[in-house]
Amino acid sequence: MKIIIATQNPHKVEEIKEIAKLFNITGVEFSPIDKSLNFNPIENGTTFEENSIIKAKEANKLTKEYTLADDSGLCTEGLNGAPGIHSARYADSPQKRIDKLLANLKDSKNRKAKFVCAMTLISPKGEILFKSIGECKGEISYTQSGTHGFGYDPIFIVENTQKTMADMTEEEKNRLSHRSLALQKVFNYIQQEMNLPK
Ligand code: IMP
Repeated sequence: MKIIIATQNPHKVEEIKEIAKLFNITGVEFSPIDKSLNFNPIENGTTFEENSIIKAKEANKLTKEYTLADDSGLCTEGLNGAPGIHSARYADSPQKRIDKLLANLKDSKNRKAKFVCAMTLISPKGEILFKSIGECKGEISYTQSGTHGFGYDPIFIVENTQKTMADMTEEEKNRLSHRSLALQKVFNYIQQEMNLPK
């Protein structure tokens, strides 16, 4: 079974492949959407779920294949959910986004936060087959730590660990990340409903 991942970011596809390997998922071939296609979804949803549906539908319109899209971001309690769906555009560079978040949270005693990932799987005919949400809870640190990962990883301390996501190896992160949790639900659906080998 072939599933087109609704992204032109090869890193995202690699991460999904790694997670599939970690959980022994076989029989699914994940591919990025072809670069030659004009994949330019307008992500104007108001939730992660809505944006993942928009991306998956757009990819399906262009490919007429099974498509899977994710939309993710970081939500902080102290800032009423910000940066949320605006995580990627919160500031102009990854470092500026971290600096802005730490500055905005400066006076807040409430450092609680969560990474959220919404995924949507669409059939070749364009029907929504399955939606899932994965959440990884933690808190925002006062200083950066770690060199792995990307985005807000260096300031996100994972619940029940003393580590930021950037302190974790790729495999450690892939076992507990919001993307992994959302994806595991998609894998369960595929295995149970689409008769894939377990
Ligand atoms: P998107 O789902 O590709 O639109 O990503 C949204 C943004 O959320 C990313 O650009 C990152 O800033 C942030 N983000 C999502 N997942 C992660 C993660 O696993 N680690 C760190 N930042 C993340």
